[in-house]
Amino acid sequence: MDRKYRIGIIGCGGISYAHIQNYLKQPDVEIVAAADIVPGRAEKRIEGFGLEGVRFYPSHRELIDDGKDLDGVSVCTYNSQHADCAVYALEHDIPVLLEKPFADTLAEAKRIMEAEEKSRAFVTLGFQPRFDANMQLVKKICESGTLGKIYYIQTGGGRRRGIPGNESFFRKDTAGIGAMGDIGCYSLDMVLNAIGYPKPVTVSGYTSDYFGKNPQYNPLGKEGAEKFGVDDFAAGFIRLEGDIVLDFRISWAMHLNTPGDTVILGTEGALRIPSTDCWNGSVGPLTIYRDELGQRVQTVIPKIDTGEEWHKLFEMKIRSFLDAIETGGPAPVPTSQIFYNQAIIDGIYRSAELGREITFEELISGKY
Ligand SMILES: NC(=O)c1ccc[n+]([C@@H]2O[C@H](COP(=O)([O-])OP(=O)(O)OC[C@H]3O[C@@H](n4cnc5c(N)ncnc54)[C@H](O)[C@@H]3O)[C@@H](O)[C@H]2O)c1
Repeated sequence: MDRKYRIGIIGCGGISYAHIQNYLKQPDVEIVAAADIVPGRAEKRIEGFGLEGVRFYPSHRELIDDGKDLDGVSVCTYNSQHADCAVYALEHDIPVLLEKPFADTLAEAKRIMEAEEKSRAFVTLGFQPRFDANMQLVKKICESGTLGKIYYIQTGGGRRRGIPGNESFFRKDTAGIGAMGDIGCYSLDMVLNAIGYPKPVTVSGYTSDYFGKNPQYNPLGKEGAEKFGVDDFAAGFIRLEGDIVLDFRISWAMHLNTPGDTVILGTEGALRIPSTDCWNGSVGPLTIYRDELGQRVQTVIPKIDTGEEWHKLFEMKIRSFLDAIETGGPAPVPTSQIFYNQAIIDGIYRSAELGREITFEELISGKY
C-alpha cells in the first residue's frame, strides 16, 4: 500500500500497550483512533507513546461510526465485549484483529462468525504463539507422519499460583471464562492446530474455583474473592473427529507446579512437549519417542532460539494482520478453527454445570 494503514484501538487496558508498541514498529502504520469506556484511559495510553492527532472515543461504537478511514481495528477489550466490538466492526466492513479467547461463550463466537459471513472484512484471532518456530515444529512433526496415526493427546498446563491481579480477568461479567480463556485456549490451540483442528464430538468437563474464591489465594484478597466468578481450574475429556481423544487440564492456581507435560501418542511414535507457559510460544525442547531397528529410541530436538520471543511473536502477529488487510484475507488465524477451540471451552463449562457429557450438536444448538 502506498499510504499507511490507519488503525483504531478498541479497549486501552493492559494488552493494548503491546498492540500499539508493535504497530508502531511497522513503517506503514498510523494509529488514528482509540476508544475506551473508562474516561481518560484511551488518552492516557496514547499519551504514553507521545502520539499526536489520534481521535478518542467513549466506546467502540463511536470509534467505528466515525471510522470511515479505518483500515483495521484491534479489539483489546475484556472477553465479554469481544463479540459486540467485532460484530460492529464487521458490519462496517472493517477487518478485525481480535484478542484471544474468541469470546466468552460459544453463542457469542457464533455471532461473530455470522457477521463475518455477511461482511467484506475478516477476523483474525490474536494467538501469537502460532508464529513461534518451535510451535511450528510441533505441527510439522504431527503432519510428517513420524508419529503414525495420532489417537491420544494430553495437554494443558498452568500455574501453582497465577490468578491475574486485574479483576477484569476473573469477574463473570467481564471475563466470562477464567483460566480456560486466559491460558487454556493457547494449549488447546497448540495441539489442535498441530493436528488440523478436527471437530470436537463430545466434551465431558469439570471446573472449580476453590482458589479464586479464597481471600488467602486471590491476589486482591477478600474483595477479589467476593468478585471471583470464573474457573481457576478446569479439566476436560474431549472426543475429536478421527477417533482422537484429548485429555486437557488447566490451572491458574493449585497445590502443584504443573498438571503435566503435553504428550501426543501415535501408532508409530510419541511426542513430549514439556509443560510450558505456551502463551509466550516458549515450547521445547521436544522429545520424539520411536522404535528404530527394533530398539526404543528418544530424539531430543533442541529448542530453537528465537531471541526476544514474546515481543517478536507479538510483532509477527501484528504484521500478519496488516498483510491480510493488504490481500483482503484470508485471516492468518481464522475463526473457523478457533470456533472449535471455543466449543471445547464452552463444552467444559456446560458439561460441568450439567454433570454429564455434552455433544457438539447440543452446544451448537444451545439446547441442553
Ligand atoms: N495475546 C496475549 O498475549 C494477551 C495478553 C493479555 C491479555 N490478552 C487478552 O486481551 C484482552 C484484554 O486484556 P487486558 O489485559 O488488556 O484487559 P484490561 O481489562 O486491562 O483492558 C480491557 C479494556 O477494554 C475496555 N473496554 C471494555 N469494553 C469496551 C468497549 N466496548 N469499547 C472500548 N473499550 C472497552 C475496558 O475499559 C478496559 O480498559 C482479553 O481478552 C485478554 O484475554 C491477550
